[in-house]
Amino acid sequence: MPGASLQNQLEEIASAAAAIATAPAARLAELKVELLGRKAGRLTEVLRGLPALDPAERREVGARANQIKQDIETAIERRERQLAQEAVRAVTMDGTMPARAVWRGALHPVTQVIDEICEIFREIGFTRITGPEVETEEYNFTKLNIPLDHPAADAHDTFYLSPGVLLRTHTSPMQARTMERYPPPIRVLVPGLAYRRDPFDPSHSPAFEQIEGLAVDEGISFVDFKAAIDFFVKRFFAPDTAVRFRPSYFPFVEPGAEVDIQCQVCKGSGCSTCKRTGFLEIMGAGMVHPAVFERCDLDSERYTGYAFGMGPARIAMLRYGIPDMRLLFQGDMRFLGQFVE
Ligand code: PHE
Repeated sequence: MPGASLQNQLEEIASAAAAIATAPAARLAELKVELLGRKAGRLTEVLRGLPALDPAERREVGARANQIKQDIETAIERRERQLAQEAVRAVTMDGTMPARAVWRGALHPVTQVIDEICEIFREIGFTRITGPEVETEEYNFTKLNIPLDHPAADAHDTFYLSPGVLLRTHTSPMQARTMERYPPPIRVLVPGLAYRRDPFDPSHSPAFEQIEGLAVDEGISFVDFKAAIDFFVKRFFAPDTAVRFRPSYFPFVEPGAEVDIQCQVCKGSGCSTCKRTGFLEIMGAGMVHPAVFERCDLDSERYTGYAFGMGPARIAMLRYGIPDMRLLFQGDMRFLGQFVE
């Protein structure tokens, strides 16, 4: 009686399938093959026997076989879902796992330094403003008393966009723009990008931040400049940091100076960072040249002022002992992560 034997086989398969509900993952995979496998699966064997049965029996056994097949498939699906959930729970419920570190954003160290510098100068009356990075030859050079055949105006250093239009090579054009726009007393601080045709190296970048400072009023002298810079240096670095003013030349100031601070690495005794001088340069500066006042329609008999320009990336390097400027601009989180507060 082939029909009855197939019936028996089916019921055996159905009871074997009960194991699915509690099978571990590996066993479940085996059961799948054992019961439903296309080649040698037990259910497949039964289905192969169907054609030998007479039609009535075939219908009955066939129906039961389909039913069992569906039940098994449903059971397998349910068990697979369960096992997947258990796997997830096993991970998330492990109370001994160390907590995952949370990523926290922060301002770039150079931006932090710029903000801090502006904050310090704000205390002595300086307003923070910005200006255009695309400039004209006139503002970048001519109004600042830099003749176009001056080395700084040489196409070698300057990115030209079109004749007479360029990427500013310093933030000093904002001296002229400010003097033309606002009547004295003027006290502004202008952070922003400047551009020069320099290759990347440990102390240069073709695009770099600068901060321009400008103070114009009646009766401003070099002493006021020294006091402002002294205040800034002692605030930004350390209260006992020595400051030195050295004569220097920039066409738009007279007298011109460079400001040095006591070396932060050796505290002034001389090391490789300060090339044994004990001092590090932090800015160019000077008293606004009368020719610049005149070009900006300010009376150079009535007004005096001082201007300075510094590089916050360089200042960040001095403060944190960063040996190579490129570290600041490579976006490497192992480096930048050190500046997250
Ligand atoms: N603009 C000069 C530079 O980029 C710095 C400077 C600013 C010097 C203001 C004097 C006065 O080198």
